[in-house]
Amino acid sequence: MEENKTAFDYMEALKNMNSGLDYSACVVTYGCQQNEADSEKIAGMLHASGYSIVKEPALADVIIVNTCAVREHAEERALSITGGYKHLKTARPHLKIGICGCMVSKADMSDKIKKSYPYVDFVFGTEKLSHLPEILYRSYEKKKRIFVPNDGETQIAEGLPVIRESTFRAWVSIMYGCNNFCTYCIVPYVRGRERSRRPEMIIEEVRELAASGCKEITLLGQNVNSYGKEFGGECNFATLLSRLCEIEGDFTLRFMTSHPKDASFELIDIMAKNDKIAKHFHLPVQSGSDRMLREMNRHYNKETYLSLVDYMREKMPDIAISTDIIVGFPGETEEDFEDTLELMKRVKYDMIFSFIYSPRTGTPAAKMEQVPDNIKTERMNRLLALQNELLAEKNEAYVGKTMRVLVEGKSKTNEAKMSARTEGNRIVLFDGDESLTGKFINLKITKSAPFALIGETEA
Ligand code: 5AD
Ligand code: SF4
Repeated sequence: MEENKTAFDYMEALKNMNSGLDYSACVVTYGCQQNEADSEKIAGMLHASGYSIVKEPALADVIIVNTCAVREHAEERALSITGGYKHLKTARPHLKIGICGCMVSKADMSDKIKKSYPYVDFVFGTEKLSHLPEILYRSYEKKKRIFVPNDGETQIAEGLPVIRESTFRAWVSIMYGCNNFCTYCIVPYVRGRERSRRPEMIIEEVRELAASGCKEITLLGQNVNSYGKEFGGECNFATLLSRLCEIEGDFTLRFMTSHPKDASFELIDIMAKNDKIAKHFHLPVQSGSDRMLREMNRHYNKETYLSLVDYMREKMPDIAISTDIIVGFPGETEEDFEDTLELMKRVKYDMIFSFIYSPRTGTPAAKMEQVPDNIKTERMNRLLALQNELLAEKNEAYVGKTMRVLVEGKSKTNEAKMSARTEGNRIVLFDGDESLTGKFINLKITKSAPFALIGETEA
């Protein structure tokens, strides 16, 4: 906790240093929900340091770019956006630009920024989030560039201020890092080893969110099913979930991500028993070929994966199941890929996040024999076409049903409509008043469209 005190001391020091200057800060986020959650803490710390938080980088006196490294494309975008801030610094020399997140937690990328992006004032790794106030303070004080890499720090900073993007929906990180080393994945190298937050801290945060009227709370971790391993049987993920379900309030709990090797039947039983847990399971399969799963170091096979899916459907017939699939992993043959298509037909996913394999330097798969780009693209197109077909059938089956949804606000794709999400995380568009935002309502599904359902409020 000493570290926390220091973070708060530096927030106070920054406030004093910048007093009367009316400074503002902007946080630009790439990547997954964990990054979004981290960015809410970054905004919280900057706000507590006296900055107002703005959405427009051109208006800010501090810009923090929170980056992703999972695929090459994400890195390219973060670098190009950072490049675009150079001219802002010319116009406003006192502007501070900082980069954090997974991309700069790799030593080679941190060096690249040092050399090629001289207008970046500071860089800090994922383990160093709570050090931001100190880094920013020192950057003003010493007028020197600062690079703070990850160094295996495992302490979890509790009690940091947060500015949440939404008033009715919240992320709650329950653990950080990953020990799995899937051969394609950079995450264990940039987010460090698995470490869990104490259950009482998580319970307190969820209790406060529920009391403040939050309607949907998503528990986050790279592999939530290995939550609490370091507590020696005191509290695992299933027990944590049961304890969270005892908290009073009209809210839904979600969680992600589950690794199929650790997802337990006990967890599925707890989901089936508790109305507070959304009946949605995100279970990344990555491939339908046992050979590919072995090469990916996933520690399960198609059969054990399907036994989880079958058990879920037996206990919760309406459960929505989503997944992640990688297309064109090194050595993937036409036969391996067809195994994936077969699995999709068997499971009939409610949603698939599909990714073309992107070699990440430093991971074992980057050194394996690569699938040519044209084959990867062709397979991806076939996968998407099949999923659209399967989804159309599935969506059709919802027509006529009444579903409980959480209203999210005006639709981003169709201004005239409101948008809501079902328990299974499916989007429903409907005509309604904006004042319904953040409320649970019932919608009757009248039509299915390729990427959403259409519904109407019941009289
Ligand atoms: N290339 C493509 N997709 C990847 N993922 C992780 N690493 C890579 C990579 N190198 C995908 C996996 C994971 C999701 C978050 O990103 O499917 O589940
Ligand atoms: Fe990456 Fe595998 Fe860890 Fe997920 S479980 S973060 S895919 S190494």
